Amino acid sequence: MKRFQDQVVVITGAGSGIGEATVQRLAEEGATVVLVGRTKEKLEKVAREVAEKTLNDHLYVYVADVTAEEEVELLALYLKENFDGVNVLINNAGTSSGGSILELEEKDWEHVQKTNVTSVFLMAKHIGPVLARTEGENKAIVNVASLSGHKAGAKIPHYSTAKAAVIHLTKALAGELASNQVRVNSISPGFVETPMTDKSLKNPAFQQAIERHTLLQRVGRADEVAKAIAFLASSDASYVTGTDLLIDGGWLTV
Ligand SMILES: NC(=O)c1ccc[n+]([C@@H]2O[C@H](COP(=O)([O-])OP(=O)(O)OC[C@H]3O[C@@H](n4cnc5c(N)ncnc54)[C@H](OP(=O)(O)O)[C@@H]3O)[C@@H](O)[C@H]2O)c1
Repeated sequence: MKRFQDQVVVITGAGSGIGEATVQRLAEEGATVVLVGRTKEKLEKVAREVAEKTLNDHLYVYVADVTAEEEVELLALYLKENFDGVNVLINNAGTSSGGSILELEEKDWEHVQKTNVTSVFLMAKHIGPVLARTEGENKAIVNVASLSGHKAGAKIPHYSTAKAAVIHLTKALAGELASNQVRVNSISPGFVETPMTDKSLKNPAFQQAIERHTLLQRVGRADEVAKAIAFLASSDASYVTGTDLLIDGGWLTV
């Protein structure tokens, strides 16, 4: 039995990395997937490749900037007009940049807050009601936070702060949507090979430091995160809400 058969799933940041791997995973499991991001070509490429690999052609591309409220409102309208409901929302879009507190410009701080946490608020505010009204047993939101939301990483104070906020926002939202049977959880990946980390991981010293600090002694893969997202999004997690799942190879343990 495919866990997401006849279910509609919206994934933000679907054009690369963890988002792309999640599209692949959920399409394999039968989902109808709406791929959201700002770059149409990236989304179309992922949709095309995933459809070829999974033989699931229920993949729809929707271009939107999830930090712009009017665009999120239009996305909610598109979903209401084109689908019977939305079962799963995966708030995965995010961004990071380096800089210590004393060096950061306010605009860099704001950009990282808006992309990582304000976007989750906007999507919850406008797409949350669509999930609440959807008929069906399985309704879930999964927010992609980070290991950095648990442990303030060096030189990414804006990102760590935003991801800690995502973990807390997840709990608040779980409380608000519980009466509508919508479960809300977050995942916190450690270091995963994606376009976001590509540059840093090319530095052998950085890569070795990660291996040294991780119990499993390696960097994670996007498909490993996608599997965990799929679990929280599925009815296998039917009694799980308001929690955060670390997928960090054991980094925080030691
Ligand atoms: N890689 C890691 O080690 C790691 C660890 C912990 C957490 N994470 C989190 O995992 C999530 C996915 O990141 P990734 O590593 O897969 O990096 P990625 O490949 O850079 O993915 C981020 C995606 O978000 C999209 N995006 C950025 N700003 C957006 C906006 N305003 N509106 C809509 N889409 C937007 C980007 O596409 P466009 O630019 O085309 O819009 C991109 O496809 C992020 O939330 C990240 O913080 C990653």
